[in-house]
Amino acid sequence: MGFVRATDTTGLSVGNKKMVVVDGKEILLTNIDGSYYAIANRCPHMGGSLVKGILEDGIITCPRHGSKFDVKTGRAVGGPTILFMKFKVKDDRSYPVKLEGSDIFIDLEK
Ligand code: FES
Repeated sequence: MGFVRATDTTGLSVGNKKMVVVDGKEILLTNIDGSYYAIANRCPHMGGSLVKGILEDGIITCPRHGSKFDVKTGRAVGGPTILFMKFKVKDDRSYPVKLEGSDIFIDLEK
């Protein structure tokens, strides 16, 4: 399938995020310093919706148990905390993004 048009840059200014659905998959799109990044919106811990979390310095914090992911790579940089106990979490899936004009394309296969 390769790159698929997901959305355009409307409402996605620097430091912002939004969720798009591409081929039935929820994707978290972010704009970090003018570049766009895509990771799976479902937290790999227990499926929290990452778009509802806080995005700060390129790190999204899951609203459910506080896992943290680098939105550029999907890498987990902090695990969940439940009842004051820390756990590990898998990395999130990241996807290649390309911009054509103001259209944002995501490749779900890579
Ligand atoms: S569901 Fe995201 S940290 Fe638990």
